[in-house]
Amino acid sequence: MKRTILITGGAGFIGSHVVRRFVKKYPEYSVVNADKLTYAGNLCNLTDIEREKNYKFRKTDIVDKKAVNALFDEFRFDGVIHLAAESHVDRSITSPDEFIYTNIIGTVNLLTAFRNVAPASRAGKIFYHISTDEVYGSLEHGGFFTEQTPYDPRSPYSASKASSDHMVRAFGNTYGLPFVISNCSNNYGPNQFPEKLIPLTINNIKLNKPIPVYGRGENIRDWLYVGDHAAAIDIIFHSGRPGETYNVGGDNEWKNIDLVRLLCHIMDGRLGRNAGSSEELITYVTDRAGHDLRYAIDSSKLQKELGWKPSVTFEEGLGMTVDWYLANEKWLNNIISGDYSRYYEEMYGRR
Ligand code: NAD
Ligand code: TYD
Repeated sequence: MKRTILITGGAGFIGSHVVRRFVKKYPEYSVVNADKLTYAGNLCNLTDIEREKNYKFRKTDIVDKKAVNALFDEFRFDGVIHLAAESHVDRSITSPDEFIYTNIIGTVNLLTAFRNVAPASRAGKIFYHISTDEVYGSLEHGGFFTEQTPYDPRSPYSASKASSDHMVRAFGNTYGLPFVISNCSNNYGPNQFPEKLIPLTINNIKLNKPIPVYGRGENIRDWLYVGDHAAAIDIIFHSGRPGETYNVGGDNEWKNIDLVRLLCHIMDGRLGRNAGSSEELITYVTDRAGHDLRYAIDSSKLQKELGWKPSVTFEEGLGMTVDWYLANEKWLNNIISGDYSRYYEEMYGRR
């Protein structure tokens, strides 16, 4: 079936993996990637597919209502996969405003434009909103987030994502807009901006710089390889039941300090350093304000209903990730020489 689909935030980390998957796997689809190209958006993530016939890029700020409407007028999309967002918790703590504009107002602009272009009855029409497990709040040492867990966002980032999830459901309930939402745990893999824990740790070990571990490193996250998230998005977009929510997770919980130690061990091997030498870089720094203790996801609904499961073990995924960062020095150096170095000084200079 021919389709014209919009992927927002396709120049970012997860978005670029989703764009590549759709462009390659569905040559009969027209895939339009709309991205503002903030500090986190990088078209170098897509150089291998940028000339494909079924792919187009449009530089668009989703907060700009006119620009969003013009995009929908031009393409009359029958499907939207919405990933564009401000995504980093630490940035949301220092400057929340942008999170409100992009994550909430940007989402409402897209919902409104989508509602206007095609009747709800149009076959296959779907607005797929990509969200996070952080909307459910913070867990103690037992239990998992399910699709029924009440929302309890605790950072400006998670509160802005929770608001956008509510707006999507409100458009579904009020206007009959067909939607689906998924809430995923922490992703890792190639192309992740090195402000997030795993690529930041890899980069600092490579450069022999201190590895900043917040608090005592006791916080726990569930980690999923980005390719497995892209596969889940593919399945949910095509087979998810409209109006439903699906949790996506790796069943792979790690204490931050244990994860950092594992990365030190892998990097010592890759760089031919003495065993244990990278661990000497671990530096405990002031904790993040309001730091959520633990995220853990129950993804059994997605596994049972739609047959998805993670395909990459953590050992394989981390190995592929480390190898990618070591092989793509130019990609990393471009980032480090730009805005990132200023951010790094601001974020870690005072911890
Ligand atoms: P990212 O920060 O790497 O990429 C975000 C992309 O959105 C960038 O390309 C950026 O340029 C674009 N963007 C930002 N503001 C925009 C605007 N106003 N208009 C248009 N484009 C804009 O983020 P990511 O890690 O790839 O996350 C993608 C989505 O997945 C987000 O919605 C995030 O909340 C969600 N998510 C991420 C994770 C994770 O671990 N990274 C986990 C669960 C859910
Ligand atoms: P992060 O990658 O920012 O993802 P999120 O906050 O969305 O889970 O952080 C993952 C965990 O690692 C989180 O508990 C905060 C911690 N962390 C550090 O200890 N040091 C760091 O330099 C960073 C960026 C994160």
